[in-house]
Amino acid sequence: MTMPMPSPHSALTLAIETSCDETAVAIVRGSSPPELVANLVYSQAEIHAKFGGVIPEVASRNHLRKLPLLVRDALSTTGISSEDIGLVASTYGPGLVGPLLVGLSYAKGFAYGADAAFIGINHLEGHLFAHRLAYPDVSPPFMGLIVSGGHTLLIRVDAYGRYTTVGTTVDDAAGEALDKVGKKLGIPYPAGAELDRRAQIGNPTAIVFPRPMAHVGFDFSFSGLKTSVMTYLRKQPHADPNDVAASFVASVVDVLATKSVEATHRHHLKNLVVVGGVAASATLRTHLEEASSRRGIRVWVPPLALCTDNAAMIAAAAAFRHYEMGQSHNLSLAPEPNLGLDVDPAFRSSGVG
Ligand code: KG4
Ligand code: ZN
Repeated sequence: MTMPMPSPHSALTLAIETSCDETAVAIVRGSSPPELVANLVYSQAEIHAKFGGVIPEVASRNHLRKLPLLVRDALSTTGISSEDIGLVASTYGPGLVGPLLVGLSYAKGFAYGADAAFIGINHLEGHLFAHRLAYPDVSPPFMGLIVSGGHTLLIRVDAYGRYTTVGTTVDDAAGEALDKVGKKLGIPYPAGAELDRRAQIGNPTAIVFPRPMAHVGFDFSFSGLKTSVMTYLRKQPHADPNDVAASFVASVVDVLATKSVEATHRHHLKNLVVVGGVAASATLRTHLEEASSRRGIRVWVPPLALCTDNAAMIAAAAAFRHYEMGQSHNLSLAPEPNLGLDVDPAFRSSGVG
């Protein structure tokens, strides 16, 4: 590990995110706080909707096609040349190995060609840095809820770079459950946003679905809830689909809001930061506001474009790790599909250069 680098205000970081089905490229300037210069996302959701979910090989091929075009656009629209880039970052886990390999390989090649430093970023840490981009004045400590198609995690953030997992899902991620139930209701992948829209129309108390593990520790479980909705739909094929959507979404967001506010309170924290695609849910925001105001806790949700998968959050995390913690990786860094947040092996091993 090297000494912290001076953080010239002009230092430019180019970041790449390809861990799932979004091809994303961003540029930030400086690190404290980072200034967002470019933020491009190409979503492959329409391509994968045909299959009802993400097909890793299809995602890899499309990252390979789109990534160079997005990098070119990010540079040309901002008038930045590749020689101006001082740091190149890419997500190296967790995620799908093929898609991760595409982004990592591209980032390494770009860094080598531009004689820039290189760093791999943990996707989950990236999600937390969406908060730093949106609200740079609200610093840790805070409780983070990362809630997306792949993750449902409660993370205590004592400082950027210092994380403790407080709760995680023991089966499906919240977004995964939304997408699967949505599919059953005939909504194309990813179903979360449309399900949430229908939830505003339907009656959330029409059907009482279980609130799994609502008052048991801080782990989550959504698989049993998903099964009970499927069973209900089989037995009541003529039920109002908006009522089913509203009742199901109410159950998911009730559990998310209750647990995350309770965890924030029990950890004596005053701020709860919610990131990931499901943070876009209007129903979740309403439940969070209700639950948090009773406890005197403030809830922070970055703008939608920073909540769903994007490279701006990866760039912000990279600029912090490089310019404020003096970290970088050598070009042999491998993808880590199952990377966790508490112990980041790449920063512990000799891979840090
Ligand atoms: O963070 P994200 O873009 O990608 C992953 O890392 O998974 O999250 C995608 C998830 C999907 O499950 C999608 O259905 C859900 O976020 N989602 C929503 C909304 N918009 C996206 N869920 C509920 N309400 C929304 N408005
Ligand atoms: Zn994500």
